[in-house]
Amino acid sequence: RTAGDLSGRRLVVTAGGTREPLDPVRFLGNRSSGKQGVAIADAAAARGAEVTLIAANLEVASPGGCRVVPVSTALELQEAVTAAAADADAVVMAAAVADFRPERVSDAKIKKVDGQERMSLELVRNPDILAELGAAPHDGILLVGFAAETEADYERLLELGRAKRRAKGADLLVVNRVGWNHGFASDENAVTVLDAADGVAAETSGSKMSVAHVILDLIAERLASGSG
Ligand code: C5P
Repeated sequence: RTAGDLSGRRLVVTAGGTREPLDPVRFLGNRSSGKQGVAIADAAAARGAEVTLIAANLEVASPGGCRVVPVSTALELQEAVTAAAADADAVVMAAAVADFRPERVSDAKIKKVDGQERMSLELVRNPDILAELGAAPHDGILLVGFAAETEADYERLLELGRAKRRAKGADLLVVNRVGWNHGFASDENAVTVLDAADGVAAETSGSKMSVAHVILDLIAERLASGSG
């Protein structure tokens, strides 16, 4: 590939999935392994970028050559991204961020009561980190979002992607074309990348590393032409 085409560029990449605690031993989480985000961070560093990897509960090792900021919850991820985004050229939001978190986090392990058959959890909305970045002035910072949907119909999937890109103010949106049981822990991925004109910028499948390079090609092009 184009070695060094990202040299001097600062990339912030979020990877993994957030965990929202209920008590000291339990959390609400998701199936994101972090593999796709880690592949992007790894490939970007290999292409010369200065990479900050914001790592949320990764199931894979962090790549060398990146500054790694470990986080766990959505609020921690937000703080880390906001700090790192200030002097970034691009922010790639590959992490699966919980939309909701438990309203109360118990200091002690929650216990079941004798005879208890149900329990309910009150959840409150987490900030939409990408949408907040997209809505705030972010001149010169290219924003890349991801969408993992279970929609099987390809055209409807792309429509969801376009709506999501617009709602979040992202410059590029990477739509996962594989179902949730394929894309998450797998080493392979199949994506369609939507651009700011609602067109298809790329369609690719293969290893998460090869998908990472295709996404980085699009980022490198845009940074080189100064758009975003
Ligand atoms: O709305 P949805 O969760 O499908 O959007 C996915 C995209 O938005 C991803 O890029 C994800 O990192 C980002 N996101 C976020 N903050 C949230 C939820 C999702 O930045 N609270």
